[in-house]
Amino acid sequence: MNLLSIQDLSNEQIYRILDDAHAIQHNRELALNATGALLFYEPSTRTKMSFEMACMNSGVNLLSFTPETSSVIKGESLYDTVKTMEALGANFVVIRHKQEKYFEKLRNLSIPIINAGDGTGEHPTQSLLDLHTIRQEFGSFHNLNVVISGDIIHSRVARSNAYALDRLGANVLLVSKPEWRDSSLPFDYIEMDEACKVADVLMLLRVQKERHSLGNQDENYLENYGLTLQREKLMKPSSIIMHPAPVNRGVEIDSSLVECERSRIFKQMKNGVAIRQAVIQVCLQKGGIIYDITH
Ligand code: CP
Repeated sequence: MNLLSIQDLSNEQIYRILDDAHAIQHNRELALNATGALLFYEPSTRTKMSFEMACMNSGVNLLSFTPETSSVIKGESLYDTVKTMEALGANFVVIRHKQEKYFEKLRNLSIPIINAGDGTGEHPTQSLLDLHTIRQEFGSFHNLNVVISGDIIHSRVARSNAYALDRLGANVLLVSKPEWRDSSLPFDYIEMDEACKVADVLMLLRVQKERHSLGNQDENYLENYGLTLQREKLMKPSSIIMHPAPVNRGVEIDSSLVECERSRIFKQMKNGVAIRQAVIQVCLQKGGIIYDITH
């Protein structure tokens, strides 16, 4: 069973993964006795290493893979690479790839695929760890004002989180430069000053220069759209700051706010390990709950 999109999970399935992650963080032991392969065709620090840590914590062996030193360089396709992992004995694969919906090409596989990011499409395990972090803080998603701010059009994190949070009862609001808005997302855009006043959760996004044809040309991005020291003072006492990272310090957030009291940025990373343990466990379960690509 695969995990390709947050939209394929019911609310009950999401809560089950969050509950499992909570139990894992409170000493539930996992011994999965399996082998996985992490196929990262795009750079990653947090996602890749937290999957590695999740595997180490769960008794999962890993096949090491780096595209630059593999037969990808000789032209081997993603499909043939995954089929090879399957033939070698992998019980699941975790894939990050620059192509949106790369998984649509991966039919005729008998092992689960866990999507670790497909271009600007989705990042479901990031969304689950973000949901876990918000639930730890507030206990519930109902009527929370969650503002997602930044490079929305290029952000798979924004897409996965907006869909999930809306379904779980949060009020989702967006902030973005006009050229980075995504008209396919059915949520209201507000100004950053207003966002800071109303947000319970202020979720900042990285400016994804690598996905911009002309790079980020806004020298004054922090002052115009980012979280400055001045704007942070507008936030409610109980509000928290989140960011999937890596952070462009001094671009989407003043550097000194990255580790301020209301920042949960490093807690998000910590939560990523237990969430990924829970996801691997669920995907490996026979007759498990996660979306099946063949349907
Ligand atoms: N948040 C996130 O996906 O980080 P990495 O790109 O470092 O994995």
